[in-house]
Amino acid sequence: MLNNYDRIADLYDLYVTADYDLKFWEKECRDAGDVLEVTAGTGRVTLPLLRAGVRITAVDVSLAQLKKLRDKAGEAGLEVETHRADMRDFDLGRTFPTVIIPFQSLEELTEPCDVTAALRRVRAHLAPEGRAIITLHNAAMQNGREGQALQLVNEWELKNGNRQLFWISRRYNPVSGIGKSYQLYEEYDVDGVLHKKRLFSPSYRVYQEADIRARIESAGLRVTNAWGGYDHSPLGEESCYMIFELRL
Ligand SMILES: C[S@@+](CC[C@H](N)C(=O)[O-])C[C@H]1O[C@@H](n2cnc3c(N)ncnc32)[C@H](O)[C@@H]1O
Repeated sequence: MLNNYDRIADLYDLYVTADYDLKFWEKECRDAGDVLEVTAGTGRVTLPLLRAGVRITAVDVSLAQLKKLRDKAGEAGLEVETHRADMRDFDLGRTFPTVIIPFQSLEELTEPCDVTAALRRVRAHLAPEGRAIITLHNAAMQNGREGQALQLVNEWELKNGNRQLFWISRRYNPVSGIGKSYQLYEEYDVDGVLHKKRLFSPSYRVYQEADIRARIESAGLRVTNAWGGYDHSPLGEESCYMIFELRL
């Protein structure tokens, strides 16, 4: 089953404020020609790249996330081509010199065969001399993170004057690599009366390096660079991330 980001597209930019990877993407994409961004969402990575002059075609399965992205680009006077598509099964009928899957979003695919399918789609959209960059967490660094108690992450005021509280809790099984985050949004009026509570609980799967490398190979791609972080440090046992540069 797919995680349905349509339901929280109005909230996504309020709670996802990460920017630790933006310098990396700007460096990698600035002179990279046309970029195909898969799982672009509301444009957390897309918008800064568009501002830097990069031409982007954005793919995401969530219509509502893509609408947010187009609205934000429009307000900034920037152009972006968007396609609603499932990364496991899409065909834009053209190739790109650069294909990226940022923010560890391949982990949205909890079935290993779906990762292979998505990588095959990356391959199909890659120009002969092109390169793809995919990002994942390093499974080795997830051990000991089996659970996270419910914690208040942030609160903000809504346009109607109500306050919204954002809570999160996580469960993770290091044997299967499967995790689930429980994101709770509570809306209180000025009297502290709860008006609305929303739950979004996306599942994810953290993959082992050997497994991902085997899937890359079976998709007809080869690894030409492997970094362990967005600072371009080499991939090692204690790296937080696995960032692979891939070519045909
Ligand atoms: C965590 S968000 C990341 C969005 C954006 N890249 C960012 O950095 O904020 C994951 C995104 O992946 C999209 N997604 C999940 N499964 C997908 C699939 N099978 N095909 C295409 N997009 C998918 C979701 O709709 C969501 O927008």
